Amino acid sequence: TTARIAIDRTAVVAPLNRRIFGSFVEHLGRCVYDGIYEPGHPTANEDGFRLDVVDLVKELGSSTIRYPGGNFVSGYRWEDGVGPKENRPVRRDLAWHSLESNQVGTDEFARWCKLTGSELMMAVNLGTRGIEAALDLLEYANHPSGTALSDQRIANGSPEPHDIKMWCLGNEMDGPWQTGYMTADDYGKLAARTAQAMKAADKDLELVVCGSSGSSMPTFGDWERTVLEHSYEHVDYISCHAYYQERKGDLGSFLASSLEMQYFIETVVATADHVGNKLRSKKKIKLSFDEWNIWYLEEHQASDEVNDEWNFAPRQLEDVYSVADAVVLGNLLITLLKNHDRVASASLAQLVNVIAPIMTEPGGGAWRQTTFFPFSVTSRLAKGEVLRPRIDVGTYNTEVYGAAPLVDAVATADAESGTSALFLVNRSQTESIEVTVDLASLDASSITEAVTLHDDDVYAKNTIDDRERVGLRELSGASLADGVLTVTLPPVSWSAVAFA
Ligand code: AHR
Repeated sequence: TTARIAIDRTAVVAPLNRRIFGSFVEHLGRCVYDGIYEPGHPTANEDGFRLDVVDLVKELGSSTIRYPGGNFVSGYRWEDGVGPKENRPVRRDLAWHSLESNQVGTDEFARWCKLTGSELMMAVNLGTRGIEAALDLLEYANHPSGTALSDQRIANGSPEPHDIKMWCLGNEMDGPWQTGYMTADDYGKLAARTAQAMKAADKDLELVVCGSSGSSMPTFGDWERTVLEHSYEHVDYISCHAYYQERKGDLGSFLASSLEMQYFIETVVATADHVGNKLRSKKKIKLSFDEWNIWYLEEHQASDEVNDEWNFAPRQLEDVYSVADAVVLGNLLITLLKNHDRVASASLAQLVNVIAPIMTEPGGGAWRQTTFFPFSVTSRLAKGEVLRPRIDVGTYNTEVYGAAPLVDAVATADAESGTSALFLVNRSQTESIEVTVDLASLDASSITEAVTLHDDDVYAKNTIDDRERVGLRELSGASLADGVLTVTLPPVSWSAVAFA
């Protein structure tokens, strides 16, 4: 099987915004406690943050980090998490049926973001709370000094404002599982009023209104329309959340999950533009794809993992990812990049232990899941502008999506450094595919790196007992001559090739 790809240097989707490589830390399971935070761990710093995890987060290349939830935020009182640690209350978290010690809160997490070189993206609680709590948190976090709450932050040891630019107006407010979930009408009004008030404090904030928690929600589409009819002029982004998994052994459909993400993005863009055009607005709403990943949710729902006990940091949602999962994740990232003109920001959900690319053991090591690799390589190599390639390839038949192209790809090119990169997947379960790529318009003279994620066992994983079973390999046989790249993609693989 063969494929032909043509890269046109002028087919620019958008300049690369690093926010597309965001991630997500929720107070859930062992993401915060025993994940990023473990006082007493041999690598912990004075704040109790594990520096071995910090190093892996840097290597992963996460840009923006959404915090503190997720479903957790809809019952969260931010005041519990600031001030002297010994005075912080233990609370019940109803979203994940566990206990919250509040030993990590806004100030600590802002410091952790500095350590990792990432940008903090904050969510406010619009489930059990509302405008006042959102404004208080904004004042606490961002006001320089001289007000009750900014002076409280200073007294708590953070003299500089945290300067948080991106704020999520609640989380998944369309979901019946959400504490305080609402109708689109009620949420749209509350979101608009909260946004208006927050922008009265700081007009430069970038606000994300909740879209649907999934494209299979019965209200999908109508929710976006109604919410934006109320809030369009006050917000900047609408959120999208999507999780994928292999179902009933149907690997072919799973490998084509990007087609579903593409449908999702197009539907939300069309709906947002419908509302904007009707309002004759000059503004375009951007998409914040602030939860996306592989998640074996159906298996978790079928198990009795969430029980009646109240425990601190229980082991929850600790999916162990396969090579196939990593290939799909790499393809989802390709899809986000291909839609980067509208998907301006995205967060892989989540970062550590909970459906995460990084795993840890208390007192022990930290390691990379299979899904770590496509994310870290894309984040490192993608620079400059995102280019939409023309792909000429055959299809295979899938149960869920019908005909799906065998190969998908996206490219980036950076005028300043003169480097470029190509990211590709082969969805075939049986065939290697020889791909010829016309790079003439890129001025690429040499291959600087060519790696692939592939294994003869598509279900191979990195486990606690075998932490480096799966890793990147050299993509052998990649060659560049006269502006044409020739490369052979192994079956079920994700690959990257970089040029100078
Ligand atoms: O990421 C796990 C959960 O998925 C989040 O808390 C929630 O927003 C979504 O349903």
